[in-house]
Amino acid sequence: MLKFLTSSAEETIRLGRHIGCLAVPSSVIALSGNLGSGKTTLVKGIAAGMGIDAARVNSPSFVLIREYRGKKGKLVHADVYRLDNAGQITFLGLEEYFNSAVVVIEWAKKARHLLPEDHVAISIAFSGKDHRRFTVSAQGRHSSAIVARLRAATARPKSGFYREKDIHA
Ligand SMILES: Nc1ncnc2c1ncn2[C@@H]1O[C@H](COP(=O)(O)OP(=O)(O)OP(=O)(O)O)[C@@H](O)[C@H]1O
Ligand SMILES: [Mg+2]
Repeated sequence: MLKFLTSSAEETIRLGRHIGCLAVPSSVIALSGNLGSGKTTLVKGIAAGMGIDAARVNSPSFVLIREYRGKKGKLVHADVYRLDNAGQITFLGLEEYFNSAVVVIEWAKKARHLLPEDHVAISIAFSGKDHRRFTVSAQGRHSSAIVARLRAATARPKSGFYREKDIHA
């Protein structure tokens, strides 16, 4: 498990960029955290890391899914906040993207029933006005490799945000 603390939206974008650089088509990233915690902001960074203009990334709360073409493949950004039951979420057809795109899902706990076993889970918590705590954990071999590389990439203090003491769990 990896923990980060960011103190601005810009720092969160920087953290996301590291993740976007490491993700490859078939990576699934499950985001959780309350309204306004910074899920979409993190996705802007993930997009930037994939060579997509972060300014193009906006909340898909109404359209539910947005697709972007990056330098290393497709980014699919989904937000299932507005969907109330498992059936509606299944109807979105997210599974179709799991093998061909980097898939990032906001409010992913609602989509738990269809997440692939191998995924990176990131939860975000408020920690004062502009501070957010990120807890990153991996399930499965592919995601564990990504988190291990994220650990290495952010080991230097110059990464532009604060990595909290490692927690090995
Ligand atoms: N450290 C920080 N990281 C991310 N966002 C921050 C931070 N500090 C302040 N903010 C602000 O918090 C807001 C986060 O909004 P964002 O849309 O990313 O949240 P969200 O989790 O996607 O919300 P929703 O649940 O409505 O989709 C933005 O206005 C951003 O500028
Ligand atoms: Mg959002």
